[in-house]
Amino acid sequence: MRVLVLGGGGREHAILWKLAQSPRTPELFQASVNRVAHRLARHVNIAPEDTARVADFVEREAIDLAIVGPEAPLMAGVTDALRERGHAVMGPSREAARIEWSKAFAKRVMTQAGVPTAYSETFTDPAAAKQYVRKRGAPIVVKADGLAAGKGVTVAATVDEALAAIDDVMTARVFGDAGASVVIEDCLEGEEVSVFCFTDGASASPLIAARDYKRVSDGAQGPNTGGMGGYSPPPYWDAALEQRIRETCIEPVLRQLAAIGIPFAGTLYGGLMLTADGPQVIEFNARLGDPEAQLILPRLENDLLNVAEAVARGGVGALDLRWAPTATVGVTLASGGYPGAYQTGKPIDGLDALPDGVTAFYSGITENSAGAPITDGGRVVTLVGHAATHAEARRLAYEAAAQVRFDGAHYRRDIAAFTD
Ligand code: AMP
Ligand code: GLY
Repeated sequence: MRVLVLGGGGREHAILWKLAQSPRTPELFQASVNRVAHRLARHVNIAPEDTARVADFVEREAIDLAIVGPEAPLMAGVTDALRERGHAVMGPSREAARIEWSKAFAKRVMTQAGVPTAYSETFTDPAAAKQYVRKRGAPIVVKADGLAAGKGVTVAATVDEALAAIDDVMTARVFGDAGASVVIEDCLEGEEVSVFCFTDGASASPLIAARDYKRVSDGAQGPNTGGMGGYSPPPYWDAALEQRIRETCIEPVLRQLAAIGIPFAGTLYGGLMLTADGPQVIEFNARLGDPEAQLILPRLENDLLNVAEAVARGGVGALDLRWAPTATVGVTLASGGYPGAYQTGKPIDGLDALPDGVTAFYSGITENSAGAPITDGGRVVTLVGHAATHAEARRLAYEAAAQVRFDGAHYRRDIAAFTD
């Protein structure tokens, strides 16, 4: 079995790490521009969104199954290119992935499906958007319609802040064409949770949940990042909440997508807010989360290869998906300056001899000419502690975080602080 994973971040390291444990001993390949120093797969220097080159590689190398990590190749249509040529791939079509790459489309589908979500309106004209904000008042949320690497959202405390965000997104186009339209949404309050299900378009697995920390600094201060760590499961997660979210937020959207002729086969990721009025959807993504993949895959008891094949070829209904009743806590070490400008190439100490029960998932680590690990990205590594309890998993993750060192490293100290 020859398996190609697209993408070069921590999520893809977690996918490869889990595949490497498969009793079916697949031969692993990884397509990414950056070369990640984990040595689990043969590195292929192809950008995941370069659909023609990916499809040629899959053909030439007789790859049996491709697994798409990030959103950009989904939006570029890589899954369609592979399916057209008859290849198995885990990841939704470009049209189904629109649930992630257009927030306006996602809102429309949610409204049609009757899914609880914040009231919103979509604008292509900045003057009309501003008029709406003045009328609606603050707090209010301004979102670039398209993909903006998790940075296109402003939760504005004041009307002036919202007006400035409209100028940035629509007029200055700081996120490029992603800002051709904006979604302006009411502000929700509550606890955030990420939920995931695997689906082949016909049936969907039960949900698994994790919590991600998006802001760079302790106490949710500072700018948004790709994610600075998290834990799984949330301590309040139980079968009743799982069922409620599945029935009110996830299954209606999958049914609606199928009804409009674009069945979703892949991993559906719901970003939710647990409000006083019940769970509400903030956004959908069409893939596993990063760092959530690093938090949930260690808890997966099934062979990920079997899961990926069921998603790609059908058969999710027959999967007996099981999650260990354990806890993971992950702490992400980032480069100095991240999420702003940062330097790379810093030597990293302490990655060998991590405590038992800790796995290091590399987001931005490569090797220098001597084979020693050096930093190669904004997010560098997520150290995941896996134990029977959140408190023990947290202790392990922070023990590892104190041990791994590079110039400028920073991380949050309050991941899973509820265990204190
Ligand atoms: P997104 O890129 O849609 O995940 O949004 C980034 C972050 O903005 C989310 O994780 C939330 O913390 C926040 N956010 C987005 N939409 C809302 C909303 N309607 N109300 C409150 N916070 C929101
Ligand atoms: N952890 C946020 C994301 O993957 O979008």
